This record gives sequence, C-alpha cells and structure tokens, in this order.
Amino acid sequence: MCGIVGYVGNKKAVDILVDGLTSLEYRGYDSSGIAVNVEGKVELFKAAGKLQNLKNIIEKNYSEISKSTIGIGHIRWATHGAPTVENAHPHSCNCGKVAVVHNGIIENYKELRAKLESKGCTFRSQTDTETVAHLVATKYGETHDLTEAVRLATKEIEGAYALCVIHQDLPDIIVATRRNAPLVVGLGEGENFVASDVPALIQYTKKAMYIEDNQIVTLTPDSIKLIDIDNNPVEQKTEMLPWEPVALSKMGYKHFMLKEIHEQPDVVRNVLSGKLRAIDENVILKEVTLDREKLKDLSRIQIVACGTSLHAALVGKYLIEEFCGIPVDVEPSSEYIYRKTITDKNTLVIGVSQSGETADTITAVRQAKSKGSHILIITNRPDSTMAREADSLIPVNAGIEVSVAATKSYIAQLISFYLLAIYMAEVKGVTDLSDLKHELIILPQKIEKVLAHKEDIQKLARKFANFKDFIFIARGINFPTALEGALKLKEISYINATGYTAGELKHGPIAMLDDSMPVLSILMSGKVYDKILSNSEEAKARNARMIALTDSTDTKLDELFECIIRVPEISEILSPALAVIPLQLLAYYISEFLGKDVDQPRNLAKSVTVE
Ligand code: F6R
Repeated sequence: MCGIVGYVGNKKAVDILVDGLTSLEYRGYDSSGIAVNVEGKVELFKAAGKLQNLKNIIEKNYSEISKSTIGIGHIRWATHGAPTVENAHPHSCNCGKVAVVHNGIIENYKELRAKLESKGCTFRSQTDTETVAHLVATKYGETHDLTEAVRLATKEIEGAYALCVIHQDLPDIIVATRRNAPLVVGLGEGENFVASDVPALIQYTKKAMYIEDNQIVTLTPDSIKLIDIDNNPVEQKTEMLPWEPVALSKMGYKHFMLKEIHEQPDVVRNVLSGKLRAIDENVILKEVTLDREKLKDLSRIQIVACGTSLHAALVGKYLIEEFCGIPVDVEPSSEYIYRKTITDKNTLVIGVSQSGETADTITAVRQAKSKGSHILIITNRPDSTMAREADSLIPVNAGIEVSVAATKSYIAQLISFYLLAIYMAEVKGVTDLSDLKHELIILPQKIEKVLAHKEDIQKLARKFANFKDFIFIARGINFPTALEGALKLKEISYINATGYTAGELKHGPIAMLDDSMPVLSILMSGKVYDKILSNSEEAKARNARMIALTDSTDTKLDELFECIIRVPEISEILSPALAVIPLQLLAYYISEFLGKDVDQPRNLAKSVTVE
C-alpha cells in the first residue's frame, strides 16, 4: 500500500520521481505528491485523485520544479485521513524544512501527536505520517544531523514504515529507513535512487541493495551509508536485478490485465521449466529443503494466504490431500493470526503471496515460524519480505504483474502447487501421476486455444455486462475457480458476484434466483459433472439466466444453457488451470465494456501492506 520513491543526483529529479510514481501506481492511487529542493527551499506539490492530477500540476510548474536534482515522491492508498490534498504526502514540519514520505502505519501516532503538539508543533493533516515530519524536525533541531534525527525518531515510532526524508539545508542527502515495509536502493553513477519496489528503479539501474528492517540508509549522489538502529555500520550487500524494463510496458495491449492474461501460456512453460522434464522422470523441486524423511512423515499442513492467492491455496489443498493423504488446512492469513493456531515443528506451513509483502500473510508465517514450523513460501517476488522468512522458497516466475487484479500470478501459483503435490507424492511413493504430468506439459497449448477464441467471451461479456449480480457455481476442485471467477468480476467491474459450491445453492442462495440473476456453472467433465448438471437444472427451474463453462461437447447442454463457453477437453484434476482463463477474460471484457478502470480498480492496491 502506498509507493515511495527518492532521487539524488545530477538529473532533473522531477522526471525520475514522476516515472517512479507511474510505475508504482499499482500500490495505491488515491492521491500523490512530491517534494523537491528548489534553490535552497523545499517545495511540496500534491494532488488528490489519480496521478495524472499531480502530473498536471507539475506540468504547470515544470520550469521551477525541474531545477531540483533531489526529491522524494509518494503515491497513496489512504489509511489515516481521507484522500485529500492536505493528507497527501509529502508531509512537512512547522518550519517547512523537512519533508517526509511514508508507506505503512505509525501505530502510536496519537500519543506522538499529543506530545509534539504540546511542544508547539502545528498539524495540518489527519495522517499518522505528519507526526514523523515533526518528530524528525525536532530531533534535527537537537542533533543537526539528518541521519541521526531519523535514527532517533525511529526509536520512538511504533508500527510499520518505509520512510524517505529530505531537509532543506541538505540539498544532496536523502535518509530512508524501514520496518515491516519494503525498501530498495538503486545505485547509479553520480546518482542514487530509493523506492518501495524495483519497477521505480529498473529503467535507471539494475544494481540494487535491499534495506532490512531497522536499517537507516543515507544517500548522496556519490555515496551510500548504511547503519542499524543502534548506529552500528552495516555491511552493504548489492545485487544485480534480474528485471527488464520491457516487462513494464503494455506491449500494444489496451490494459496490463489483458497482456498478463495472454502471457499465461508462457508463464506455465516457465514454471514447469527445469522441474518437470518428462513424464517418466520425477519432479525436481530443489527449492523444498525440508528433509525427505520429514516430508514423508508430515502429519499436517497449513496454508495461509489472502484473496486470489487463497484460491490457489484451496486448489493446493485438494491436490495434496488427493495425492499424498496429508490433511491440509487453508485459512485466510487475516483470520489465522487472531486465534490460537495449533502449529508445531511437525507442521509444514505454506505462505502463498504474489507480492510477498501482504502484511497479514507475513504476520501469519512469522507466527508459525516462532512455533518451530518449517516455512515454505510460494511467491512471485523472491526478493520480498515474506521470501526472507522462508525455510523453503518456491519462486513462481510469473514476471512482474502490474494489473491490480491477479491473473498470471494465479496460474503460476496453481502450477507450483501441482508440482509441489506431485513432488510430495513421489517422495512418499504413493502414486503414479504420469498422466497428469503429460497434461501439464500440453496445458499451455490448451490455454492458447482458449485465448484464440476470446472474441466469443467478449460477446458474452457485452450481453451480461449490465446485470447487477452474478453467481458462479462449481463443486470439488473447481470450487476455488468459482471463487476466483467471482472475485475477478467484482473487483474490476464492481458487480456483486459470489462463488458457491453448487450443492449449497439449495440451502439458501437459490432464494435469490430469478431472471435477473445470471448463474455461471463450471461444468468440467469428471466425478461431479452430473451433480453440477442437476444443480444447474434446479437454477434454470427458477428462471436464472444460465451460462456454462465446460469441456463437454454434449449438445444436450444447449437446451439447458443460454450461453456456453467451451474449452478444450481436460482432466478434472487439472481443469482449474484451464477453466479460470475464460473467467478472467469475462471479468476483463465486462469491466472494459462498462468503462471501468481495469488495471487500477477503485479502493484497491496491488500490495496490501497493512493488517
Ligand atoms: C485479486 C488480488 C488480491 C490478492 C491479495 C493477496 O486479484 O490480487 O486478492 O490476491 O491481496 O495478495 P498477495 O498475493 O500479494 O499476497
């Protein structure tokens, strides 16, 4: 939530800040701002609403702003205080000399604010962040050293934060620090960068240094100083980022979401690559460091995740239980962390997260780790905070996902679960899964076939775009597909969509059915096919508008369903990895038809770094 960026060097800082904020827009987009040092004076420029509003202000004042070669910027997802100009970052102190941008939540801000007000600080916003600006200014008044001022301030701050600070009297210094929020430094020649995430840096440098919790970094154009909260120097570990700027381009697609949906065949190939070579060879999963004997004897697995990652976890549960006979509990991280969880060293705890920065999931895995569980993390960001908690780390290699609605990272998580479940089954020696392996290898071609018929789904989307509600039904391994289809639709089109197990329909939801309710049945061949068919008959008898998503070629379906989305034939066990593709397209085309902001739906952010 929220993105921060900082630049100090010899170029026009504003251009780099604006580019950085544009690439961090997925982290929040309800207001934004920058602070620059123009001829010895810190100037703030802020706007409510989308980043374009800030860009317009910058354009009008460009000749003045572009004189600065230092600056910090922020894009906000509001937590404390409405998304207004006053609450937009950067925030400043009474004298206006300090400017601060912040990602996270200062938990003790009320006490700090009362203390600072009693010392004469005047607050202009409702944010928790403004306390940091006043606190740093107070400490600077005592020490005349910005790094020391920030260090002393962090001793008093409780909560989560990544902070960037500048001071008017120091036109070539940025001080940044973090605790439970991401922060990465980019190292250049005669210039340095700092940001919440790699996309803000990657077009300028590939040389990076990840900042750890409670470290304070001081950047000048030619130097980086790193200390810990007790003022001890810290060894600087730099690395080359494996990212290409092209990953951040839409490559001719209208939206990132559509581009990312189309990338899925290659994502599947990437995830399988090197792990599944041939159907008669065992899956290679060196990333799982848990001793094979311990893996065989595991009595229990818990999986924690949120949103779309949670839906991938539900498929994972089904696979592991089916192939390995080990009981698996799946729980939203946000619930797991607020109850007594029965976890110990014989439990494998799997955290699933696209971003690796989801606060609830980080807390959940840390909680399990403290009880001695082996922690396996499945993430698209091996450089993330969550990845650093891992005993075993499975990177899903989907490439950067810009659209807020997750698509390719979901398919990558699913395929990772298929590999993990097969690997575990092979370690246990319980079953022959060569048919599934063969199907996995040819899955990308089947996804390509679905994508080739996207215009049919676009037509369907137009027909149903103006309905207010939507129901998705499925059973068994595709119940998570129903949840995911409904989540995709509601998050980008704001239509009230719900996924139900088809068998539950008659226990309440059926009361809602009439001709204003589309019901999409996920009807994949297999052991629950006939059951879902009769549940669909029941819905049809209540005049619901019936849509089928199926791999069946049975022409009798035409009588029951008003519209049919047909996908290539696939085994029931692998069907979630194919059935979800048309549902992503359906949500995309409905949202696009309704003129919604597909890539940046309202009220959402790509990384949810608050609990
Ligand atoms: C939905 C979506 C969210 C995320 C959720 C968890 O399209 O993207 O529901 O899945 O916020 O995020 P990660 O996977 O980064 O932990």
